[in-house]
Amino acid sequence: MPTNSSVYIRGLGVYTPEKRLSNDDLSKIVDTSDEWIRTRTGIVSRCIAADGEAASDLGLKAAERAIADAGISKDEIDMVIVSTVTPDYIFPSTACVLQNKLGISGCPAFDILTACSGFIYLLELGSRFLRGNAYRNILLVSTEKLSSVVNWKDRNTCVLFGDAAGAVVLSKTDEADVGVLGTVLGADGAYGDLLKQPAGGSALPASYETVANGQHFIQMQGSSVFKHAVRTMSECSLELLKKCNLTAEDIRWVIPHQANMRIVDAVARQLEIPMEKFCVNLQNYGNTSSASIPNCMAEMREQGRFKPGDLLLLTAFGGGFTWGASLIRWK
Ligand code: UT7
Repeated sequence: MPTNSSVYIRGLGVYTPEKRLSNDDLSKIVDTSDEWIRTRTGIVSRCIAADGEAASDLGLKAAERAIADAGISKDEIDMVIVSTVTPDYIFPSTACVLQNKLGISGCPAFDILTACSGFIYLLELGSRFLRGNAYRNILLVSTEKLSSVVNWKDRNTCVLFGDAAGAVVLSKTDEADVGVLGTVLGADGAYGDLLKQPAGGSALPASYETVANGQHFIQMQGSSVFKHAVRTMSECSLELLKKCNLTAEDIRWVIPHQANMRIVDAVARQLEIPMEKFCVNLQNYGNTSSASIPNCMAEMREQGRFKPGDLLLLTAFGGGFTWGASLIRWK
């Protein structure tokens, strides 16, 4: 795997809806408590999009901020790739909807669906397209309106998720050994049933029965998902470090998928990296699927944590199952 990279995050933007839902608010809807949610997950509150605010709307605001942060014009975007499990429609893609709302046209635009690992998959895709030399600036958007697929009567899942969008402009640079140094991706479809939204696709089209049975909502076997998340995030991170001839000691910051504080703790132990190096903001947002890593990155950058030359490890796990890790030398 090359260590001299020419692909870096030129701009970063995030958008989180204004409306907040606290654990206490949730305890009025389902049989739960602030104490249970805090101790089992670390989550304190989450953002909920407004009615009529679609994934493309969240993504658009994050994208505009990322483009402004990159210091380029929207017309310099050569490709739009969106990661979401809550697309505006099954088709057209949310990337096409977002491209239109952004006021650009002509460049390729498409969605990927790799659930919570989406941002890592986007980084790899964007890097590959840029290294092929046909594109200069690629807009990657992770946008999730999970409140639209959460069963507000199911305490096992509704306390976990929130809405957010994060975006980056990925670009080329002549500088060596900066930006995306390498990425590892993985998937195992044998575990698809443990975390899914069963109805609404061609396997189980929408019908009165599917709606009555609540099959358009997220269903999850939490404790199995938990164990796989810890194992795969740790293993792929170690695999990536090895491929890049780096060690855990070289890492300055880890930005893990923000699902559950106990998962983050367990990954830290597996990687033997102290918790002080882990970036966490899940207490304020819950699990926002693929938006969680760019959302956390943006917040940590805002706090001035990342210095040029810092080595960042990003790692995620999600439905599919899918997983991945990326190493970034901050520029
Ligand atoms: O983004 C990637 C996908 N998602 C994840 O990474 C999430 C992975 N899983 C998890 O984070 C955890 O498994 C959960 C937070 C979902 C659950 O934690 P757990 O420690 O695995 O709890 P559990 O599912 O084993 O449930 C323990 C108990 C059960 O009661 P009994 O059967 O022991 O009497 C549940 O019914 O907690 C109960 N419970 C709740 N109680 C109060 C489950 N949800 C709630 C709740 N409030 N919201």
